[in-house]
Amino acid sequence: MAIQIKTPAEIEKMRISGIALRQVHEAVRAAVKPGATTMDLERAAQQKIDELGAKAAFKGYHGYPAALCTSVNHEVVHGMPSERGTLKEGDIVSVDCGVIIDGYYSDSAVTYPVGKVSPAVEKLLRVTEASLYAAIDKAVVGGRLFDIGNAVQTMCEAEGFGVVREFVGHGIGKSMHEDPQVPNYGEAGKGPRLKAGMVLAIEPMINAGKPEVRVLEDGWTAVTVDGSMSAHFEHTVAITKDGPLILTN
Ligand code: MF3
Ligand code: CO
Repeated sequence: MAIQIKTPAEIEKMRISGIALRQVHEAVRAAVKPGATTMDLERAAQQKIDELGAKAAFKGYHGYPAALCTSVNHEVVHGMPSERGTLKEGDIVSVDCGVIIDGYYSDSAVTYPVGKVSPAVEKLLRVTEASLYAAIDKAVVGGRLFDIGNAVQTMCEAEGFGVVREFVGHGIGKSMHEDPQVPNYGEAGKGPRLKAGMVLAIEPMINAGKPEVRVLEDGWTAVTVDGSMSAHFEHTVAITKDGPLILTN
């Protein structure tokens, strides 16, 4: 399918969805602390989603059971909230959430440190988030799609981190996943030309060690093969004639 171009009115609706999603993330952020379970984060999210009159985008998606993906430490993405096991000082937890308001989706992710984390882990979080913003800077009219992934890859591989290949960003709008796929690697100057009205979920998933991941027997949780820590940051971004517009902050 061709990459959809949204009207300014549609982008405005997606912005409203994105602002609600940001409020959900703030509610979850407040719940991240040593001793909390990932189900505590799920409850905080679901409560805020209900309060906002939004709908959880992930719940029921291909049978996914929750509003959040909560991926701890070496879990890369799609960790499922659970009552078992509590977050400990030094852990990291990636919180990925999507909401729907008035038919329009927004999708974003943040990786939080739990209490104080090691300098190496702090660096993983800092570089992964910086790579998201470097990628967003490439979401401009006249650019090329793979400029985005190239920005992530260049920044993260320079630090010796592994760029996950199996999962990618995506177009987003009236469904969570639209064309195009947005890889976190690639050759600058290649790929479809970026146009005003495209809306992309850009989401680097970066491992402290090697890039390989595998999915656990639960069918969802992706973990690093080498057991290294993994970070994930995501924003939903509209390409406009005035530059990239982050809809989820
Ligand atoms: N945020 C994820 C993505 O961008 C979606 C989570 S998968 C789900 O693809 F099953 F949890 F919804
Ligand atoms: Co996404």
